[in-house]
Amino acid sequence: MKTAWHIPYPTLGGMGRVCAVAEAALGLIRDMVKAIYLGMIQVCTRLFYVDRALPSSISLAARLDVIPRARNHERHKLCLGKNSLIETSSVICTWHGDVILKDGASVGIGTIVIGPVVVGENSACSQNCFISGQSHLYQDVSKNFLRQGFKTGQVVIGRNVWVGSNSVILPGVKIGDNSVIGAGSTVVDDIPAYSVAAGNPARVVKRHDPKTGQWARV
Ligand SMILES: CC(C)(COP(=O)(O)OP(=O)(O)OC[C@H]1O[C@@H](n2cnc3c(N)ncnc32)[C@H](O)[C@@H]1OP(=O)(O)O)[C@@H](O)C(=O)NCCC(=O)NCCS
Repeated sequence: MKTAWHIPYPTLGGMGRVCAVAEAALGLIRDMVKAIYLGMIQVCTRLFYVDRALPSSISLAARLDVIPRARNHERHKLCLGKNSLIETSSVICTWHGDVILKDGASVGIGTIVIGPVVVGENSACSQNCFISGQSHLYQDVSKNFLRQGFKTGQVVIGRNVWVGSNSVILPGVKIGDNSVIGAGSTVVDDIPAYSVAAGNPARVVKRHDPKTGQWARV
């Protein structure tokens, strides 16, 4: 019968197995040290680096990349208005620009927000969205894209906007007040106020008609 001990290194015997286990143990120790270090960074971030009105809520399982950790990271703000919410497993990164959640704004489970991004009053980004105000430069093919710098374009999500699950919002995009982005959309251009936009690339599919008070298909 095979034991768990045999499973990882079935072809190694004697010294080979000892070395492999020693390597795995060192790797595990490294991962644990890193986890403790990153955990301490999260504690410091929440204590000293978030400009936050109360009540507001940040899941302990959210990752806040606010403190610069590399040469190309800059110090920017993470600001949370009253009743704003950052849900579990979401990631907020301000290394390239501010992230501002206005009063009542929320970031859903698993959503990634890379500044510069503003989310307006009472707007909701649903689950697993990707909202980025930053993009890598890639023009020089002789260099890795990570070494070519980046460009930014602030994403501005207006008031009372609902961004459906799994949507992608690219740098520089502005979404007007009271609009809806359909689930799974990729928003590459600005979306006017009082519109429903959906698809890849997202196109306006409905507009609110103030005369009838109804949403009309476009
Ligand atoms: C955007 C949304 C709100 C629109 O709902 P609706 O007003 O009932 O829209 P309709 O079903 O009338 O669709 C209108 C048109 O848009 C298209 N459409 C709607 N949602 C779409 C989407 N997510 N992606 C692509 N096309 C979409 C429809 O196919 C339809 O096209 P047609 O005119 O060619 O037939 C809804 O489709 C949606 O995506 N909801 C998000 C759900 C979600 O993320 N929930 C998270 C909970 S927190």
